[in-house]
Amino acid sequence: MTLDVDNQNIKYNKRVKRRIRRRNIRGTVMFLGGSLLGGAILGASLHYILNRIFFPPGLDLAERRRRADQHFRERNADTKHFNLPSETSRLEREFDKIRQPPVDSDKLQAVLDAWQKAMDLDIMRNIPCINNWIRSYLLPTKSELKLTNMRHRTINMGPKSHKAESRFFKSERKGQRMQWEDEWDALPTSHQVRGPVVDYTNPSKYAYPSVKEASETDEDYPQLQILQQIMNRWPQDQDYIGAIHETLLHFNYSDPIERAKAERFRDLELPFKLYDIPEITAAAEKWTDDYLSDEFGDHDPYSKHPPAHKAPKQASGLAQESPNNFFAFFVPKLWEVKKLGLPPTRLNDWSYREWVRHARYADAVSLEAHKPHFYFQAGTSPGERFNEDQSFITRDLPSFGAKTEANFFLFHPEEQKGIQCRFGERGVVAATHFDGGRNMVAMMKGAKRYILSPPNQCSKLGIFTDRKSPIFRHSLLNFGHLNEMNDTNMSLEEREWLEKAATALSVETVLKRGEVLYIPSHWFHYIISVQQSAQCNVRSGIVIEGNPRFGGRQDVDICSDNPNAKMDILVGLEEDKY
Ligand SMILES: *[C@@H]1O[C@H](CO)[C@@H](O)[C@H](O)[C@H]1NC(C)=O
Ligand SMILES: *[C@@H]1O[C@H](CO)[C@@H](O)[C@H](O)[C@H]1NC(C)=O
Ligand SMILES: *[C@@H]1O[C@H](CO)[C@@H](O)[C@H](O)[C@H]1NC(C)=O
Repeated sequence: MTLDVDNQNIKYNKRVKRRIRRRNIRGTVMFLGGSLLGGAILGASLHYILNRIFFPPGLDLAERRRRADQHFRERNADTKHFNLPSETSRLEREFDKIRQPPVDSDKLQAVLDAWQKAMDLDIMRNIPCINNWIRSYLLPTKSELKLTNMRHRTINMGPKSHKAESRFFKSERKGQRMQWEDEWDALPTSHQVRGPVVDYTNPSKYAYPSVKEASETDEDYPQLQILQQIMNRWPQDQDYIGAIHETLLHFNYSDPIERAKAERFRDLELPFKLYDIPEITAAAEKWTDDYLSDEFGDHDPYSKHPPAHKAPKQASGLAQESPNNFFAFFVPKLWEVKKLGLPPTRLNDWSYREWVRHARYADAVSLEAHKPHFYFQAGTSPGERFNEDQSFITRDLPSFGAKTEANFFLFHPEEQKGIQCRFGERGVVAATHFDGGRNMVAMMKGAKRYILSPPNQCSKLGIFTDRKSPIFRHSLLNFGHLNEMNDTNMSLEEREWLEKAATALSVETVLKRGEVLYIPSHWFHYIISVQQSAQCNVRSGIVIEGNPRFGGRQDVDICSDNPNAKMDILVGLEEDKY
């Protein structure tokens, strides 16, 4: 059984070239974004000094909390609902009611504003998000047709951005002392550096299947289970204390025999993992938080130590925030706030250094799922492989990004979309989605739990398959809710979808520092960052048919209940956020 990959790919090449041109323009925009970040650092420095005056070190936690509270009260004296965390969910419900026609536009705007303000306060004060159910009109089937009609691009993130609405998509956190910082500052230093309670990078935590007997013709590989079983064994928002029994094969890349075997699995579009990849091992050692901060150009100006090194080319990245640990993908320019309410996440103005402080805090206190979470992402432009002007990501991962010839990780270098890196903190969840391209995922730091479902499970997963939908290729289902099916607050629509998802055949793996996971084309992946982590992936080329046992493009084409949905998956036309 072989797959005629090259033939399938040829017709995509033209589109891909056009796409690369577009990507290069995007690269320039990212660079300008980076310069803006630099300016913001100056603001942060001032903020630092002010904080030292208002919150001198040495105060006990209770006093810090009291002062912080006072500080927030004064700042937000105009906000009447200051002490009521449930105000956010009350306003959300209010929006649900008044979004239906006949719409009172002024009232709708006022409710949206108040809702956003309440959520801002929750995030600032580290208040648990009470309602994390999915709004029923954000699930496919009944509502996807409505989402499909949103052709009007009312919201733009670019220079033309609609001032009144862009604040729903990006928050300015600079100059705001947040409650979690008091908690963090009050922790003893030993507690701040202790890391996660369960260290998933510890090799003794894992048992692996034997590679020797494994054969790519084995009809039972990979072993799939229904999702409900997977989530019952290890509920999403809990630490897994015992040993983890991996079922995905785990090949030693430095061993020529194992590597050849891995290649056969790869070419049959079967998932597997690799370890002992010298390039990844070396980069993983290099990528300390200080190294990354310097490369992102945000060395702490108050540090007594000079930067470890000066980045020849500054990389740029962006932070995102969510009122809880769930990060659902959406396309901002297609997300109409007045129809759909506040988007699932917002960008914010944090630098890598600021984000990493929160990520350490999340590990140190085992941050609860319902509290605000943050995520950091960065990417390279595909053009970087041709020039000397490379960011650290391309430089440190040459087989992923700097090669013009195919290698184990890069199938069609000309279709490479650039390397995408995601920096996750404990608990961060990325909802399930598929990519067109063959995906190699390298874990550079920490660990992430991946739940993979083959393309032929598409219809169970609540995927938006119309490319005009702001949630195209993705689902908004929170698999954590599979453990809360008895909660009467869940909508019927969400329950119906979860009941379907519960039966989706899937396989899970924990990808830890130094390992690479192969995700075949169109396979769904749901990702939980189990501790502070850094992951980079590259996609290049696509297999249309897929493995006959698990399906491919044809399955994601037809899985929507919406008969009008037409798939138009160009290799990576859509930016993959997670
Ligand atoms: C991988 O295989 C190579 C070659 O056989 C061997 O030298 C190396 O120790 C192996 N790596 C690990 C981590 O076992
Ligand atoms: C829901 O309730 C039923 C009946 O009481 C019980 O058997 C089941 O385990 C509960 N499920 C969950 C996820 O709590
Ligand atoms: C439903 O929500 C209300 C208010 O948020 C809460 O008090 C109640 O405990 C929830 N019900 C269940 C079954 O959890």
